[in-house]
Amino acid sequence: MKIVAADFIKSCQAREQFPHHDLSEVAFVGRSNVGKSSLINSLLYRRRLAKVSGTPGKTRILNFFLVHTADPRLRSFYLVDLPGYGYARVSKSLRAQWGPMIEGYLTGRPCLRAILLLVDARGLERPDWTTFEWLNEAARPPIVVATKVDKLSHGERRNRLAAIAETLSLSADRPLIPYSSITHEGRDELWREIRAMLGSMT
Ligand code: GTP
Ligand code: MG
Repeated sequence: MKIVAADFIKSCQAREQFPHHDLSEVAFVGRSNVGKSSLINSLLYRRRLAKVSGTPGKTRILNFFLVHTADPRLRSFYLVDLPGYGYARVSKSLRAQWGPMIEGYLTGRPCLRAILLLVDARGLERPDWTTFEWLNEAARPPIVVATKVDKLSHGERRNRLAAIAETLSLSADRPLIPYSSITHEGRDELWREIRAMLGSMT
């Protein structure tokens, strides 16, 4: 994907603050520390556009990044970096963990065209499954990205990825996308998936 420009637009703590533009949005969902902000930087060929955090799980805000591409079918859209889940110890339900604002964003935002669910390539944890199921039922089936594949050895990689794909019943038409924000492996494939989601809806 040829990125013409990418800018941080705003952080939002409430629905009233969301951008009013009529552009498509792509949301990044996943556990704290799984690599959401790093993935956004990698996709946009930038180093520090999205803040890679030292203190995970503290923020409860949505960050909107406006992207302009050279692709005539896509042109401009937002990438939306969501707060990570899984750090709120007391909460049992997704509602309690994410709060109504994020849940409302994922289920009711008309211009939200694609949801990326990031899971650590080394293995799923319970919140990953529950989020996956919840997204399928209440929002939309996510594109599942296995992050940090560079941390796996060649041998481990095949087994771990196969286990994740099997647990989530992913297959050829809904692939698991291995990604490394360090080597940028997966970037072209993930852009193809995002483009298919955005392009088919416009
Ligand atoms: P929250 O904003 O707290 O929810 O975290 P996040 O999901 O945005 O994760 P972030 O991108 O801040 O990355 C967390 C840590 O993982 C950082 O130390 C990153 O450098 C590291 N990291 C992210 N992606 C990769 C990757 O592909 N490979 C490796 N080896 N490390 C990564
Ligand atoms: Mg982040």
